[in-house]
Amino acid sequence: MQQIFPEYRSMDLHDLHAGLTLDEGRERAWLAIDMVASFDGAATVRGQTERLGGEADKVIFGRLRAAADAILIGAGTVRAEEYGPGGGSAERRQDRVNRGLAPRPQMVIVSRSLDLSPEHRVFSDPEHPPLIVTHGRAPADRAEQLEAVAEVVRVGDAAVDLPGLLAWLPSRGLGRVLCEGGPELNGSLLEADLIDEVFLTVTPSAFAGTASRIVQGLVELPDRGFALQSVHEHDHELLLRYRRAR
Ligand SMILES: NC(=O)c1ccc[n+]([C@@H]2O[C@H](COP(=O)([O-])OP(=O)(O)OC[C@H]3O[C@@H](n4cnc5c(N)ncnc54)[C@H](OP(=O)(O)O)[C@@H]3O)[C@@H](O)[C@H]2O)c1
Repeated sequence: MQQIFPEYRSMDLHDLHAGLTLDEGRERAWLAIDMVASFDGAATVRGQTERLGGEADKVIFGRLRAAADAILIGAGTVRAEEYGPGGGSAERRQDRVNRGLAPRPQMVIVSRSLDLSPEHRVFSDPEHPPLIVTHGRAPADRAEQLEAVAEVVRVGDAAVDLPGLLAWLPSRGLGRVLCEGGPELNGSLLEADLIDEVFLTVTPSAFAGTASRIVQGLVELPDRGFALQSVHEHDHELLLRYRRAR
């Protein structure tokens, strides 16, 4: 593996972003997103991401999960990817505690429709129920069902108020948030200019087809500029880190 930017050095894969920390937002949670795409921009292959990321992408995924208070995720990704409750290994939990974090990140799922089965794997650890964030007009019967396996909070009246959500999370001790997608949620976050940092893996593959990009759903936006922080390469995979240039 090599670091290409900010300066060149050869390194071991296991040193990639070792000891990574995320900034902690107090007025509003700091938000990093972690995504993977093929070099022709596909964010999915046959509706999933499994075939996209290589070894280095898995290292980044673990590093980010080890550094975040919360994992923010759209309901579409929970449904498509068979998401689990996000516990991590005993080693990762100990590492988090050594850094002053809770043993595991809080899962936070965003949904308008509450079309989530209480039987889904993400709800399988009763000691660590996810937080489901919805809005005031979400179906009450679905909310009631999900309350048996999760904490359901309404942020916003007719739509989920994402700025309001990020302003609320630090009061729950969740000031460092990692969003793992998907593209529609990323689109809403980008539109509201809430994305502070981006970890993007570009894989050495092309799929063509109609797969979505890593940010989806917007017609057009004013330029949201990001400044490049680092570039690493491992096995032809590029690991890019950007920060919002404000
Ligand atoms: N390449 C990558 O790194 C990566 C990462 C993650 C996911 N993915 C892929 O992305 C695909 C899913 O795409 P997607 O765009 O459907 O994912 P998504 O953003 O996770 O899910 C969309 C759903 O999330 C909820 N949601 C999103 N934004 C919302 C908002 N502003 N307010 C309220 N609810 C909101 C809605 O849920 P309800 O329908 O429940 O109302 C919406 O239908 C999957 O194939 C997955 O594999 C790729």
